[in-house]
Amino acid sequence: MSVTIIGIESSCDDTSAAVIRDGILLSNVIASQSVHEEYGGVVPELASRAHQQNIVPVVDAAIRRAGITKTDLSAIAFTRGPGLLGSLLVGTSFAKGLSLGLRVPIIDVNHLHGHVLSHFVRRGENDRVPRFPFICLLVSGGNSQIVLVRDYNDMEILGQTIDDAAGEAFDKCAKVMGLPYPGGPHIDRLAAEGDPKAFRFAKPHIPGLDYSFSGLKTSFLYTLRDNLRNDPDFIVKNQADLAASLQRTIIEILMEKLDLAVRETGVKTVAIGGGVSANSGVRDAVERYCYAHGLEAFIPERAFTTDNAAMVAIAGYFKYLDKQFCAYSEAPYARVTL
Ligand code: KG4
Repeated sequence: MSVTIIGIESSCDDTSAAVIRDGILLSNVIASQSVHEEYGGVVPELASRAHQQNIVPVVDAAIRRAGITKTDLSAIAFTRGPGLLGSLLVGTSFAKGLSLGLRVPIIDVNHLHGHVLSHFVRRGENDRVPRFPFICLLVSGGNSQIVLVRDYNDMEILGQTIDDAAGEAFDKCAKVMGLPYPGGPHIDRLAAEGDPKAFRFAKPHIPGLDYSFSGLKTSFLYTLRDNLRNDPDFIVKNQADLAASLQRTIIEILMEKLDLAVRETGVKTVAIGGGVSANSGVRDAVERYCYAHGLEAFIPERAFTTDNAAMVAIAGYFKYLDKQFCAYSEAPYARVTL
């Protein structure tokens, strides 16, 4: 009998629902929230309210586009955390209600787990998927982690940021340059026209596989401050070079630890995930690194780099196969590791 899972994602500012049948994606609907743009960051209360408005139409559309009916669902998977608590509550409560109505089980999904497993979302039978064990570089606005993936439900964090995430470094530096939120995609765009060697920023000296990005941020700020004293138009004149140099430094920091992790574990496959894995420079660097070292690279489709319910549905699918269900008494969690 086939297994049909609906995934529901509401951890931050995207309301999403997706249907997966036997590991194949049937639909993936995302309603992004533009309400936060004028505030330069996600406003939690506004995010919860927007989820509340979006969740019914988004779930409805996912079911319709999948060409199924509600009664075809085997289980309902939802993001339980980490994320904004008010936002998570909307998805969690909705999943519980739908599950009670349909008399099918609920499956809680760790959002980070979902990002890692997004590489197993297939559009067709012949799509390629990673072989275990592999390393996943998980880089987003809230996390920067090197994850050793032994199996669908067996992962270990080998290293992670001790302060800011890579996405935060992009966003915060972009913000002081006067770029809109989130700044990562703007840095990416500007970097394409700049000289990546124009400026030098500080790089961390953290032992092991952990990351740090706060020193880079401070060094970026000092460069702006020192130069703005002599030239008030410094940022405008040097936008592309600043973006390219910042991006190069972030990539170097990421790749140095990724290389160490590959050498320490001896894995033959490397994957990337999370919002920052949409960055052209990061994608390119990982692809080149894997090619040079004879490794297999898994670079996600851009649609699967940011928050989406397809990854929640696939993570739910593998938990379903392992019979890992969730009790109705379970509440969402704002913070959690893998
Ligand atoms: O995974 P995600 O959607 O959610 C959070 O964890 O917040 O990641 C969002 C992050 C933001 O920091 C955003 O600036 C970054 O991903 N991002 C990028 C790019 N696209 C998104 N950073 C660099 N280059 C990009 N093209």
